[in-house]
Amino acid sequence: MEKPLVKFYYKNVTEEVLGKEHGITKSQFDELEKKTTPFIEELNNQRKAGKVKYRDLPYQADTVSQVKKIAGEIKDCENFVVLGIGGSALGNIALQTALNPYMYNLDDKQRKGPRLFVLDNVDPVQMKSFLDWIGDKLDKTIFNCISKSGRTAETASQFMTVCEMIEKKLGKSKLKDNVVATTDLKAGTLRKITDEFGFRSLEVPDGVGGRFSVLSAVGLLSAAVCGIDIDLLLAGAADMDKRVSVAEFYKNPAAINAAINWHYYTRGKKISVMMPYSYGLKDLSDWYRQLWAESLGKTKDLSGNDIFVGPTPVKALGATDQHSQVQLYREGPNDKLFTFLEVEDFSDDVIIGKSPDIAPELAVLSGHKMSKLINCEKIGTEYALIASKRPCLTVAFEKVTPYTIGQFIYLFEATTSFAGMLFNINTYDQPAVELGKDATLALMGSSDYAQLADKIKPFKEKDNNFLI
Ligand code: PA5
Repeated sequence: MEKPLVKFYYKNVTEEVLGKEHGITKSQFDELEKKTTPFIEELNNQRKAGKVKYRDLPYQADTVSQVKKIAGEIKDCENFVVLGIGGSALGNIALQTALNPYMYNLDDKQRKGPRLFVLDNVDPVQMKSFLDWIGDKLDKTIFNCISKSGRTAETASQFMTVCEMIEKKLGKSKLKDNVVATTDLKAGTLRKITDEFGFRSLEVPDGVGGRFSVLSAVGLLSAAVCGIDIDLLLAGAADMDKRVSVAEFYKNPAAINAAINWHYYTRGKKISVMMPYSYGLKDLSDWYRQLWAESLGKTKDLSGNDIFVGPTPVKALGATDQHSQVQLYREGPNDKLFTFLEVEDFSDDVIIGKSPDIAPELAVLSGHKMSKLINCEKIGTEYALIASKRPCLTVAFEKVTPYTIGQFIYLFEATTSFAGMLFNINTYDQPAVELGKDATLALMGSSDYAQLADKIKPFKEKDNNFLI
């Protein structure tokens, strides 16, 4: 299979499968087609006018060569540590989990590059444990600080902590060897520091929000360093670019995906569950969660009216969460749309061991490929959900390779753009994230946020009347 594909399957949301109440009827599909088709042209035009910058990421030859140059210079390091959060971390994690082996960090034989750590939190216990481990390995460790602004409290604190450690243990002159910055080309705190210290650096492209940035230098460097074929990743995205630009609704997987999601949202199914049946794909749901939530959760529509819109993305993992969530998914409120991720041909397989003589009832499993079991689990769960009239979509990966992961990422980014148009909102801003970020800096004592600090005061101390 030279060019494995990602395919979108939507029969299990139709009236034919789910009945009239929960399935989409032919005339409703006609309506969806009518409503969505103009947005395909509009998005293509916006993109041509340079207003949807993430759409051009698969074609950034200069970025790719800069990424490869730096990856080549640092390829002998033993540990590669990403310091970043949100859009500066989730894509890196998703690529690594999808495209490198489960035991990558632990088994030298399974590794094609350095160990990868993505520190996307400021948990002191986690950080201390990590610093204790990495402390005597700093000379073989590269830190990639990823932050568009450089003022994000989490990333900045990690960065300063690590820099101080490098300075103490290796000397200040080593900072420029051990830190690579991925940040704004011209402005911002991390750019200022980068220029002062002479770090190697890559660009967070202008006009591309963090959650749309995985195919830029933000996601590409850690992938390239860890042996992922970034050319194939981008080629897959470019392939999907063609498919999601097709003017015909029924041939455009992003348009139809967005339309189905919008249809259900407006009919009370406001929760979107993404459930991969593959451990490798599990962190793509995490990446999707941010993409969907930050892009579509908005107070105002484009005319400034209050709409308080936004589907709630939920991640689940098959088969694990069958034993945790499916009771709710089948018998609880019928308020969810399910998107399964399915792998047709797994890159590796295991034959299930023989059953003990004393337990002949287990013989049914024995001798089968584990890939058959996990895919039967997927079909079984989907069947059970359909029996309860729950709508189900499937994104099928012919194989999981950089090429199909690139397709998937681009498919969901374009789906998000179409969904934003259907909801009539600004898909690309995230004003609500900023208040929490500013409040943190205010609480930490920043004079830039003194007024905000006053407003927060009543919330700083717990009221004992309500503390039991
Ligand atoms: O999607 C987004 O814009 C956010 O999740 C940001 O990526 C995140 O807040 C990190 O911001 P920065 O890159 O400025 O550190």
